[in-house]
Amino acid sequence: MAFEMVGVVGLGTMGAGIAEVFARAGIQVAGVEADEQALARGRAHLERSTGRALDKGKLTPAEREEILARVTLTTSRADLRDADLVIEAIPERMDVKAELFAELDRLCKPSTILATNTSSLAVTALAAATGRPDRVVGMHFFNPAPVMGLVEVVGTVVTDPGVRAEVADLAVRLGKTPVEVDDRAGFVVNRLLLPYLNHAVTLLDHGVAGRDDIDNAMKLGVGLPMGPFHLLDLIGLDTAYEIMNVLFDESRSDRHVPSPLLRSYVAAGLLGRKSGRGFYGDPGDGQQEKAPARTVHVVGSRELADRLEAAGFKDTEDADVVLQVGGSTPVSGRTVRVQLKGQVAELATSVLTEQEAVLGARDLLKIAGYTPVPCKDRAGLVVDALLYCHLNDAVRMYESGYASIEDIDAAMRLGCGYVVGPFELLESIGLAKVRDGLRDLHAEWRSPSSAPAPLLDKLVTAGLNRFPRP
Ligand code: 3HC
Repeated sequence: MAFEMVGVVGLGTMGAGIAEVFARAGIQVAGVEADEQALARGRAHLERSTGRALDKGKLTPAEREEILARVTLTTSRADLRDADLVIEAIPERMDVKAELFAELDRLCKPSTILATNTSSLAVTALAAATGRPDRVVGMHFFNPAPVMGLVEVVGTVVTDPGVRAEVADLAVRLGKTPVEVDDRAGFVVNRLLLPYLNHAVTLLDHGVAGRDDIDNAMKLGVGLPMGPFHLLDLIGLDTAYEIMNVLFDESRSDRHVPSPLLRSYVAAGLLGRKSGRGFYGDPGDGQQEKAPARTVHVVGSRELADRLEAAGFKDTEDADVVLQVGGSTPVSGRTVRVQLKGQVAELATSVLTEQEAVLGARDLLKIAGYTPVPCKDRAGLVVDALLYCHLNDAVRMYESGYASIEDIDAAMRLGCGYVVGPFELLESIGLAKVRDGLRDLHAEWRSPSSAPAPLLDKLVTAGLNRFPRP
């Protein structure tokens, strides 16, 4: 199919981004919204996004005009009659989407492919609302759509394989990489990403660490492009909460129970960037307690001791703060246990650690060039607790036969901007280290989902540090 004209229904952040992606690829777009006001918001999205590219010199004024001229904005769905493909990006309500698909089926020419950008709802149920279930697919883009390189192409049991292949080819024409998956809640990316984000909210809710500290831990300690709370604000807290509900409804796994704190934010209307405030955006943001610099004694890291000495601190045994690098024994009083992860220094504090020592340790680690992450002394602290469970989810996904290692790695790299995919990361950390870390987490939290995936356990037992690939 030539795909000369496509329709996009719903011009919110995702829909407007998708319309831009098609227009940039030289395809005529009809963008449909419910009323003139919503249409104006959609136009503003398009103008802002292409304006940003213009400012950065990525588009010339003429190219920008051509892109905008390819998008016709309308409030009439009947204008989609001759579209080769229509993709919907309206709110995640099955009843509303099913009604839209039934109407598109009536309006559009018989050859039109109907696609949904749903984050997690069943594509099969939408296909069943039409008289052309073989021509219905999921075409799932990632926020920001003009930037992220992945499209999940979701086929159902009734999708014509030729249609699926045509949509995958179209994704390539758009400059994206398609990953073809079956219709399962959350597909690949959201099924891996959202439980990890929800886990971060649980750590915040349990007071294990603060919002900024968790974000710093994952961005600077693991190298992810954004911390979990910044990413939740980008995705939208309501969307994230809905996806967790859909995942839980399908799996009934403890890993997929939506965090009550996430629910509270949604109930309060704090939805992230789209509402102006989510985990970030509080007027009190950025205030920090101060603690004076102190004398220090470093145990377990020559490098840290040297950095502090170079900064003028004398190492003395009776110092106000003792930084004990590594180890797992609980500490108390003026001793703070430190785990160094890249640029990040996790500061584990027990119920007996003096608050003054924590504040002092935080300042000292900053002076030594690390980003301190104060946290409660729990199994895995912040980084390993979040990361190892996330990697374990990827192993379980592969083990279930849903997606290949290559597709999972590619999906997380291209859909979420990871530098390396979960399997590449797992192998670089070491399978045994992750398996053992998961065992510690499981021993502490007893949640079934934190038990090492059987495949991971078997590979470690067999002495392997690599997943077998065909
Ligand atoms: N619209 C258009 N372009 C945008 C943009 C937006 N909203 N935000 C950023 N960009 C562009 C910038 O113009 C810049 O373009 P350039 O390289 O051509 O100059 C590029 O993206 C990088 O932007 P910045 O330099 O401003 O910022 P960063 O380097 O911090 O990158 C990011 C921003 C691309 C958003 C990066 O932080 C990232 O990859 N984050 C992860 C995002 C992610 O995980 N998305 C998936 C969420 S899950 C999802 O969407 C599924 C859904 O179903 C829930």
